[in-house]
Amino acid sequence: MTIPTPEFEALRDRALVCTDCRLSETRTNVVFGVGDFGADLMFIGEAPGKNEDLQGEPFVGAAGQLLDELLAGIGIERGEVYIANVLKCRPPNNRDPRPDEIESCKGYLREQIRMISPRVVVTLGNFATKLLLRTETGITRLRGQRFDWWLGATLVPTFHPAAALRGRPQVREQMEEDFALIRQILDEPPVDHSESDGASDEVLMVEDSQMELFN
Ligand code: URA
Repeated sequence: MTIPTPEFEALRDRALVCTDCRLSETRTNVVFGVGDFGADLMFIGEAPGKNEDLQGEPFVGAAGQLLDELLAGIGIERGEVYIANVLKCRPPNNRDPRPDEIESCKGYLREQIRMISPRVVVTLGNFATKLLLRTETGITRLRGQRFDWWLGATLVPTFHPAAALRGRPQVREQMEEDFALIRQILDEPPVDHSESDGASDEVLMVEDSQMELFN
């Protein structure tokens, strides 16, 4: 477990008392994120649900249990990864996040990603995938693929675990395939992006558009 930097602790302290949007009025706890600050693998969901709001930790309900099982299937424990959501506070009755709430909150996620600097970022479900890849394409078409992404990370979209719990058995099977891809990418030798000037135009385009998202 890597000890977080003082900068990261300050970010979390700021988030824990954030009142930048209306969700601060209805939340029980801010759900900043959990896991290893030095993680190579980071998961990003949509927003805390009821259990997460009560406990202050992401993915602690049934969806979280499935996430743990899928991780165990590729030999990884929950404590070795970092888990966060796009929104840090629960929308009432789990309604969809609103654009101004995303706008108020996205700086926290951007800084989490920048400071943790994971090799692989996994978006869970349509919402996080569309936002972070800046696409309107649905998760069913995007899952199972890898995208060269911001700060040299590889982004892998997969279904939201809740979709596997309520959907056809094939959804879980496809998530298992996606987790096998995650394992494969983690097993590849790390690329040193600091020295790379040979990045393709395509990769740079993705990075430029992500900078717009996170600025
Ligand atoms: N769903 C999410 O997207 N995030 C959580 O933390 C829990 C459920």
